[in-house]
This record gives sequence, structure tokens and C-alpha cells, in this order.
Amino acid sequence: MDRFTPPTLTPPPPLRHATGKSPHWTLDWIDYSRIQIDVIHDKVDLFYLLVSASFIESGSDTYTRNLVEHYDAHPQISDWLQHQWEPEELQHGRALKTYVQTVWPDFDWDAAYAAFFDEYSRLCTVEELEDDRALELVARCVVETGTATYYQTLRDLSAEPVLAELTEHIRTDEVQHYKHFYRYFKELNAERKLSRARILGALRRRLLELRTSDSDIALRHVWAFRQAMPGVDQEPFERVCQRLYQYVGAQLPMDQAVKMLLKPLALPHRMEHFIERPLTHLARRVMTA
Ligand SMILES: [Fe+2]
Ligand SMILES: [Fe+2]
Repeated sequence: MDRFTPPTLTPPPPLRHATGKSPHWTLDWIDYSRIQIDVIHDKVDLFYLLVSASFIESGSDTYTRNLVEHYDAHPQISDWLQHQWEPEELQHGRALKTYVQTVWPDFDWDAAYAAFFDEYSRLCTVEELEDDRALELVARCVVETGTATYYQTLRDLSAEPVLAELTEHIRTDEVQHYKHFYRYFKELNAERKLSRARILGALRRRLLELRTSDSDIALRHVWAFRQAMPGVDQEPFERVCQRLYQYVGAQLPMDQAVKMLLKPLALPHRMEHFIERPLTHLARRVMTA
């Protein structure tokens, strides 16, 4: 497997708000005309990873509706979900879609996405969420840990400078999403005072769900549409999955992921030691099996 040297990132434009905080990046920050297509166009594994990610991000609004409804008694959370979280996730989808269409123009993104969305949208129901509002926030921390880890891996795997810049922007957003969900969890849990066993249960459930849900559906549709393209080597789905898991798994920053997963448990330092190993084992199994 090729290992790429990390590229130099292009610094974002030096614009500042009056508050001194950097503004959130926008699609026009990404100069797609600078993509070095010859560096990436034959990287089939990156194609699968990027298209799958673009599908899941583009379907975020379906999930948001359910989440907003779930938190209707908590306007601060539902406002943030609607006005910041959803637009940012959809921006990730649009940015990745444009990247994919620029590098692989023969791939019919719209048709493949429509097939994916038909299946995916039927799975996104309120019943899939944790009943307890605080526990669902723990579950969201798991999802954002997964995405932050995923984009960090993609950034590190990418030798193409525009992709490295784009995945770094998205990674930063995912870390911020994690921080929001974690802060909201702490606020809700100050009253709920959930036991560590229940929090650990929610962590475990969502980790195991990650293994079978969104990314598998997305990858299966990407694979099916790619197989139908003329001149493409036929390859069984299972072999593609196995190769991708190894490709990504070798690069995943597991220590960082486990630290993020442990935070909602608020364990005393000496206890972290006992749970770190089984949690690392579970997370690695989920992300690389
Ligand atoms: Fe995202
Ligand atoms: Fe996110």
C-alpha cells in the first residue's frame, strides 16, 4: 500500500470577524482548479472513501430533522443543530461532491446518491435515537469522534494539496461539533446525573452501530455504481471493504479517538487506565474490522 508524505497545507484567507475569531470557511475558499488530478485520479481507495463520505454528509439534513425534534424542549441545542451543525455538515457534503466530480467526472454522483438516499432515508427515524436526551448527546460524541478521526486519516493519506486542505477544514469542524455535543451533554447531565454504566452503554451501542450502518450503505452504492462504469476492474464488494478497512486502519489515530470517547464518562484518572484497553479494542474492531 502506498504511504504518502503529508502535504503542506495552504493557510486559509486571513479574514477576521470584529470579535477576533476566524470566520467559518466557505466553499469559495477551496480552489478546485488547483487540484493536481494526476496525483489522485487512480487512487481507487480514496475514491471510495471520499464518495462514501460525500453521501453521508449530503444526507445530514434527514438526520437533523430527527434530532431537532428530539430536542424540542432544549431550544439552545435545537437552534444550534438547525443553524450551525446542519449547514456545516451539508457544506462538507457539497465540498466533497465537487471534489469528487472534478477528479472523477465519469462517476454519476447524482444517480448513485439518489440510490443511496432511497435506502438511507428509510433508516433515519426518531426510533434510532437514544430515548434519553443526555444519552443521545453521548452517542453524538461517538459519531463526531468517528468523523473527526476519519477526516484526520484522509488528510494524512492525501498527497493532493487541495484534498489535504479540504479535509483539514472538515476535521476542524467535526472536532468543534464534538465539543458542542459534549458541552450540551454536561449541561443536561448536571441534572440527570446518569450512571457511568448507562453512559458506557450508550457509547458501546453507538460504536457498534457505526460498524453496520451509514458507511456500509454508502460504500455499497458507490461500489455498485462504479462496477457498472465501462472499463472498470470487477472486484467483489467484500474485497473492497477489506482493503479499505486495512488502508484506513493503519493510519487511524486511535489514542486520540479513545480519549474523546472516554471524556463523557468523566472517570478519575486511575480508572481510565482500566477501561482504555477494552475501549481501544472495541473502537479498533469497529473502525477496522
Ligand atoms: Fe461532517
Ligand atoms: Fe459533524
